[in-house]
Amino acid sequence: MNSSIKNKNIEIFCGTGGVGKTTLATSRALYLSRMGKQVLIITIDPSKRLKQVLDITDSDIGKIKTIDSNLFYQRKNAKETSFDALLMAPLETLKFINNLNNISNNLQNPILKILMRPSGGLNEIMSIVELSRHLQSNKYDCIILDTPPGQNFIDFLEAGEKIHNFFDKSFLEIFKKFSNQPGHKPHGLFSNIVSSGINKLLAYLEKVTGNIFVNNFIDAMISIYKAKDSFLEALSVQEKFKTSKDCNWFLVTSVEQQKISDALLLKANAKKYINDNIHLLVNKSLTPFLEKWKLEADEKGSLLNLKNTLSKREQRFKDMQLSGFKQVVFFPEILCDSPQQHVFELNKAWEN
Ligand SMILES: Nc1ncnc2c1ncn2[C@@H]1O[C@H](COP(=O)(O)OP(=O)(O)OP(=O)(O)O)[C@@H](O)[C@H]1O
Ligand SMILES: [Mg+2]
Repeated sequence: MNSSIKNKNIEIFCGTGGVGKTTLATSRALYLSRMGKQVLIITIDPSKRLKQVLDITDSDIGKIKTIDSNLFYQRKNAKETSFDALLMAPLETLKFINNLNNISNNLQNPILKILMRPSGGLNEIMSIVELSRHLQSNKYDCIILDTPPGQNFIDFLEAGEKIHNFFDKSFLEIFKKFSNQPGHKPHGLFSNIVSSGINKLLAYLEKVTGNIFVNNFIDAMISIYKAKDSFLEALSVQEKFKTSKDCNWFLVTSVEQQKISDALLLKANAKKYINDNIHLLVNKSLTPFLEKWKLEADEKGSLLNLKNTLSKREQRFKDMQLSGFKQVVFFPEILCDSPQQHVFELNKAWEN
């Protein structure tokens, strides 16, 4: 029974491309909000499918938007519920970090601008910062994370290590010196930098790229250094991913793509960072249709063959229960085009 999936503070949806992570994560948000829970869904989905599903405009990106559950009902529902949604925009998170750490305006810094692009490499790290911030607010019973596919998901898992490595002790020493400089301009700095390696690198960069680039680079690094408390705090959140008390993992796969081997590979790669409370969500299942599909005597033959092949395909997933998953849960193929209706129909599948 799907209803035995007890909700946790953090719920993370992962899987390979296009299997239905965003749709199922949203259906879970809708389901939990209907159960009276305060829910926030954060997406780092670069395809911004959530924007389409939740009818979010560009000006809402990076900000919390309250989604009325009526969006998913064809006919207006008497009992109104809602959940919050956040589409990650790293620049918005940077603004929040700046405010928190009294960092003056650096939003025009071209190096930071590149790093803060959705594909600039800091998106995954910033999502952990957002998660940490909203967990601390104690406003939510559940924060759902919709992760990107492929390498970006691994980047998300490695975000903690990256933060840790970035603020490694020797690096900190160097940047302490930078930030102690009143004007922190390169020429004044160079004499103060202990590490000759960095010294040489900056001198070389200055020769090749010019003084402005080096200034911008140093300014960018200093502002990241000044925000270190926010980043380091986010590290503790990642520890929660490893305990089943705090975090449910949902590995999404879909029957039509027969992506079970990809899903297993992802599970193996993620092992170090997650707990064993992994639910395998098999999306777009045809079983409900196959069970009702009665063949006439004269139709048997190739149709019977098709029916058996499709049934066998899904049976393989049922057997996965034995492969170290906490539970295998099937979600049916929804025969319509509207993404909102997909979410609505799938939300019902969490309860039966
Ligand atoms: N059970 C379902 N039945 C029918 N269509 C579905 C179902 N689940 C998802 N879809 C549709 O499949 C498409 C892909 O879904 P979705 O965007 O949720 O996948 P994703 O795994 O988040 O993709 P990406 O890897 O690009 O982030 C969408 O059009 C969605 O509405
Ligand atoms: Mg998605």
